[in-house]
Amino acid sequence: MQREVIGIDFGTTNSGAAFIEFDEPAVIENSEGERVTPSVVYFKEDGKVVVGSVAKRNIIANPERTVKSIKRFMGTEHQVQIGNESYPPEYIGAHIIKKLVQDAEKRVGTSFTDAIITVPAYFMDPQRQAVKDAGEIAGLNVLGILNEPTAAALAFGFEEEEERRILVYDFGGGTFDVSVLTIGGGFFDVDATSGDNHLGGDDIDARIEDFMLNKIKEKHKIDLEKKREENRALLQSLREEAERVKIELSSKERATVNLPFVGKGKRGAPVAFSYDLSRREFAELIADFVERTRKPMEQALDDAALQPGDIDDVILVGGTTYIPAVKEFVRDFFGKEPEHKVNPIEVVALGAAVATLKEGVKEKETPGKIRRPVEISDVISRSLGVLTYEGTVPKIITRNTKIPITQTKLYTNAVDYADEGVVAVYQGESVYPEEEGFLGEFLFEIEPKPAGESRIDITFGVGEEFGILHVTAHDHDSGNERRVKMEAVGRLTKQKKNKWMKKMLRMHAIKVRVVNVETEDILSYYLNPNARIEDLRKDLMRKGILSEGMGIFYKDNELDDERQVKDAGIKDGSELELRQRE
Ligand SMILES: Nc1ncnc2c1ncn2[C@@H]1O[C@H](COP(=O)(O)OP(=O)(O)OP(=O)(O)O)[C@@H](O)[C@H]1O
Ligand SMILES: [Mg+2]
Repeated sequence: MQREVIGIDFGTTNSGAAFIEFDEPAVIENSEGERVTPSVVYFKEDGKVVVGSVAKRNIIANPERTVKSIKRFMGTEHQVQIGNESYPPEYIGAHIIKKLVQDAEKRVGTSFTDAIITVPAYFMDPQRQAVKDAGEIAGLNVLGILNEPTAAALAFGFEEEEERRILVYDFGGGTFDVSVLTIGGGFFDVDATSGDNHLGGDDIDARIEDFMLNKIKEKHKIDLEKKREENRALLQSLREEAERVKIELSSKERATVNLPFVGKGKRGAPVAFSYDLSRREFAELIADFVERTRKPMEQALDDAALQPGDIDDVILVGGTTYIPAVKEFVRDFFGKEPEHKVNPIEVVALGAAVATLKEGVKEKETPGKIRRPVEISDVISRSLGVLTYEGTVPKIITRNTKIPITQTKLYTNAVDYADEGVVAVYQGESVYPEEEGFLGEFLFEIEPKPAGESRIDITFGVGEEFGILHVTAHDHDSGNERRVKMEAVGRLTKQKKNKWMKKMLRMHAIKVRVVNVETEDILSYYLNPNARIEDLRKDLMRKGILSEGMGIFYKDNELDDERQVKDAGIKDGSELELRQRE
């Protein structure tokens, strides 16, 4: 059976899906016939869940049961409260992903078991893991997490023969990313990346909303914010109006905010509000947001040791780049017209589809297919380090280092005869932990020694597929070693993930014990029923519990790589043995 891989752009406002059809990346329309699906989830009273335009139209009528912009909360401890239930962001995200996949399956007529999902290049480790978890809760076998600007470059340049230097300026609904790449001949080399995880069209809408709230106050002496709860529906319509007017101003010189009712005036007569916003006034209103994209651009160019003039093509990605003031800013910065051959809203999904042509992701090309495989070399977007006894965070891996990467640094014990070491991991550019993102920490045993005499190796490894960090601590004296995947703060445990998956798919991960008969290593492990034995093999090799030449055995039969877990008869509580093949 052909293994079908779908490319998914999981966006703050809009999400999309694409796949390789007859050698070309193609957007897959949803059941409503749309090329993008609003990332809005509506939990109906009757327990049904609706995603997309229908949910979006429902925001005003039912704001307390409708969730938007969930991507902003991925990788945080935020919980979404709907009625008496509270849901983690991963579960909300999974609903969006599931809708994309189910609609795609209906349209294309195959089943998509595997996916490549994109995330902003500037996403931190926990955010990446949360998106991967969302894909898994939706029942997918997530083969890779790809940076959005890299995806855009793939869609832009997969037919490009000559070497070109490109800059991707991705200004979307919730995030701003910039990447500098060298591409050509099927190679996609990321030179540097930078960005801002909290800057997007959502912020612009909020700014217009604030501006209008002030105008309403000035003009009608009505303060809608005073009773936020009571005015919830009204504020929601104002937000919708703000976005509508913003979009209109991309093609018109003026646009009018209209609210037929903002409150009651003297003698209880209803008061209406309208405001005519000009493109100029709007540009001034958001000038600081646009300006905020300058520094990341300069930083990415600087890290790549390039000048604006060295860039051959500037690629605009994301709906916010439709705004004339944004285009103008980019044009001024580079002194030339940005590229127009890609659609800023669809390009990321298309690129995720192109990434499925990466060697080892998709099966050998079917006969008649001429597309060459693509090679992607990405970088890590933030520096990574561990907290020292002095209270600073020296870096083990610095930003814009190519992945995959493994880097080791030698540390020592700060306290006399401590029998434990703490490894606390931080991500970011500052040396002070309070200005950094905390990824997690773990303890491990060391041989007690006078201060400064222990030798402890800390190794950071970032794999290619996900950009997710693995940390190993090794004490030279005792030989103790601990290898952990940085399970970020607030991250769903495997049990929780399983619970949500069960709720969503009425299917749950299969809990097994994996035993290496030679080393006697035992691992308790959750299997995704849709995964293949091959995926399990790869993961166990990554975890270092399985080595080349060994087979995975169940009830004394070796499991075939091609087999899907759910067809292999493995049950909850089963034991899988890892041993040398005869
Ligand atoms: N013509 C337009 N003019 C101005 N803004 C627009 C236009 N069309 C869409 N937008 C805005 O673009 C944003 C959505 O863009 P896009 O779909 O690229 O974002 P996303 O992929 O959901 O977000 P992100 O990539 O940040 O997660 C929204 O804020 C939307 O209001
Ligand atoms: Mg996007």
